[in-house]
Amino acid sequence: MRLDYLTIFPEYFDVLEISLLGKAITQGLVEVHAHDLRRWTHDRHRTVDDTPCGGGAGMVMKPDPWGEAFDELLGTAPDPSIHVVVPTPSGVPFVQAEAEDLSGVERIVFCCGRYEGIDRRVIDYAAARWTVHELSLGDYVLNGGEVAALAVTEAVVRLVPGVIGNPESLAEESYSMGEEGLLEYPVYTRPVSWRGLDVPDVLMSGHHGRIARWRHDESVALTRLRRPDLLGPEE
Ligand code: ADE
Repeated sequence: MRLDYLTIFPEYFDVLEISLLGKAITQGLVEVHAHDLRRWTHDRHRTVDDTPCGGGAGMVMKPDPWGEAFDELLGTAPDPSIHVVVPTPSGVPFVQAEAEDLSGVERIVFCCGRYEGIDRRVIDYAAARWTVHELSLGDYVLNGGEVAALAVTEAVVRLVPGVIGNPESLAEESYSMGEEGLLEYPVYTRPVSWRGLDVPDVLMSGHHGRIARWRHDESVALTRLRRPDLLGPEE
């Protein structure tokens, strides 16, 4: 899998070298390239923004540098197997199912906007050639798409086969956040007693059936409390 980032802050992506993602890179499972969008500007100030047509506050990212970056990285031919991710608070909510879909693709280009956003024609141009995903991390506004692109990257890359050592931990997780669509139950480790707080007895009972039932009940209770929107009518 090859990941490209178009951004005016390529240093944001230096963190990809560490942890799980760094391992995936050294193992040759993913290749990452962060590009400074200003490379495709031609004026003395390396301008990437301009005032919004129609007036209003803030600045909008000019289409020209994006177009030239696309030409160089992707050419101009249509190819729906190329995925373009545009993080934006106006996007569709980014969820685990989307991460799973993206973990199977060969090429993703992240377009990280700043200011009031990217000229709409850039996204329309990309959508006419490649597969565009406008994704939102949640109902809040970040200063730009970089942090969102990093979050999407981590969610996607850890699902690439071979990146996580123990596929069982993925299976377990998809049980609690995927198929069942519930929040994860609380977890504990030793010591059994810590600062007057004990691990629930059932987890030390060795009774697998009771443990599974307890975990399910905890998941349902937590989901009811924090995310009732995820519960079906029977729970
Ligand atoms: N860019 C700015 N805010 C964002 C958000 N909430 N999600 C994705 N990209 C963003």
